[in-house]
Amino acid sequence: MKRRNFLRKAAGVSALVAAPDMLAAHPGARVIHLEPHPEPPVKYGANDKLRLACIGMGIIGHYDTRSALSAGGAELVAVCDLYDGRLAQAKEKFGKGLFTTRDYREVLARPDVDAVIVATPDHWHARISQDAMLAGKHVYCEKPMVHQLAEGHEVIGTQQKTGKVLQVGSQRVSSLAFQKAKELYQQGAIGQLNAVVATMGRHSSLGAWQYSIPSDASPQTLDFDRFLGNAPKVPFDATRFFRWRNYRDYGTGIPGDLFVHLISGVHFVTGALGPSRIFSAGGLTYWKDGRDVPDVVVSVMDYPQTAQHPAFQMLLQVNFADGSGGGESTRIIGSEGVIELGWNDFVLKRSPLPKAPGFGGYDSLFTFTQVQQDAFKQQYNAKYTEADRQATKPEDVVFKAPPGYDERTDHFKNFYAGIRQGQSVVQNATFGLRAAGPCLASNESVFKQKLINWDAEKMQMS
Ligand SMILES: NC(=O)c1ccc[n+]([C@@H]2O[C@H](COP(=O)([O-])OP(=O)(O)OC[C@H]3O[C@@H](n4cnc5c(N)ncnc54)[C@H](O)[C@@H]3O)[C@@H](O)[C@H]2O)c1
Repeated sequence: MKRRNFLRKAAGVSALVAAPDMLAAHPGARVIHLEPHPEPPVKYGANDKLRLACIGMGIIGHYDTRSALSAGGAELVAVCDLYDGRLAQAKEKFGKGLFTTRDYREVLARPDVDAVIVATPDHWHARISQDAMLAGKHVYCEKPMVHQLAEGHEVIGTQQKTGKVLQVGSQRVSSLAFQKAKELYQQGAIGQLNAVVATMGRHSSLGAWQYSIPSDASPQTLDFDRFLGNAPKVPFDATRFFRWRNYRDYGTGIPGDLFVHLISGVHFVTGALGPSRIFSAGGLTYWKDGRDVPDVVVSVMDYPQTAQHPAFQMLLQVNFADGSGGGESTRIIGSEGVIELGWNDFVLKRSPLPKAPGFGGYDSLFTFTQVQQDAFKQQYNAKYTEADRQATKPEDVVFKAPPGYDERTDHFKNFYAGIRQGQSVVQNATFGLRAAGPCLASNESVFKQKLINWDAEKMQMS
């Protein structure tokens, strides 16, 4: 298990999740290896590469930049961050010639930048993404797209006004596994969808967002005031800067950090636009380190019937003090089967019901008189053929992307196709808000202790 975890870390996914390995969990299943998309025949030369800048070179800025470069046809020309150590480290990694700055506006002013990755804390996403599009840059914005609902409509408006490409960074929707799951779902592989159950348990301080803080953090080595942006002014606090997820002023709690991935995946697979009612509850149970967000959150989201899917309910639960050791499971459940999603794999289990309902065992039959029991059996045998009584149990099938596969690279390829060929991207601003909105509503539900009505079409709380 340790080795498997290490391999996933190497593939750049598992620092973020403890996704189950579907093959290990279903050893008897048939395995279908998913083929990577064929590489496009075009090779880009030095003069027609996309020139990228990364704004926010923290943990995910590195993951994103690596995948952005391995997607091909792009080069990194600039990096912006507020902590000098990260700018120095970017030069160590990408070369002394790299342009670095604490001020993202200097990046946007550069004519040699075509597109930016926005990998800052959540409260900066909307502002930087909009400024970037207004400066003529395409944007890959990390999830959740926004920190406040109103910002989401502004981002959509700016994208439409400028015509720039905006891709939101819940990269799992570009995974080979999710594309195959969507195809199977649309073919009716699980029958009629009725529930989604997604749980994520973590059991470590890093999992609970207590990331390392460098010993040289000071008002001189990092720009704390700029980090605060429009958030309330507070004195210098390295913990707030490096562990911003723990504070509502900068982050979006468990829903914005984690539910958003689950919701994005489910919307992609099912074509859902969003729930109509959201009720969430949460508490700070264990990690009482000054944070003002819960470490356990449960949410029920009620999805109404649409042309794309029947009505279903989604249950989401994240627990940062999960003494079972943690783990993750996302199950899309229908009347005839289930798709259990991993990160770049999933298992399809099918159990169609036999036509005949059966009798006996834990049933009312034995409470009937003998005469009634005999009459019942006679009637039953006349009504159902032998075939009607057989429950078919198709074998479980695990669908698996190749080892080392990086869905984030495919997400960047999709972004680049939007820029170069004008293709529509898989996670545009509207998709981004339809995933982020229910997460923000979920926080609202936790903190105001009430049910939230959500208009998924208009993307508004009502
Ligand atoms: N897609 C994914 O799988 C995934 C995973 C983790 C995080 N994320 C998202 O990525 C974003 C960053 O998360 P992280 O874990 O890398 O955080 P992080 O704290 O490691 O990095 C954020 C960086 O942004 C910099 N920064 C802050 N404000 C800035 C500003 N105004 N201008 C320039 N730089 C600024 C900070 O100095 C820091 O280095 C978050 O929105 C998070 O939700 C996405």
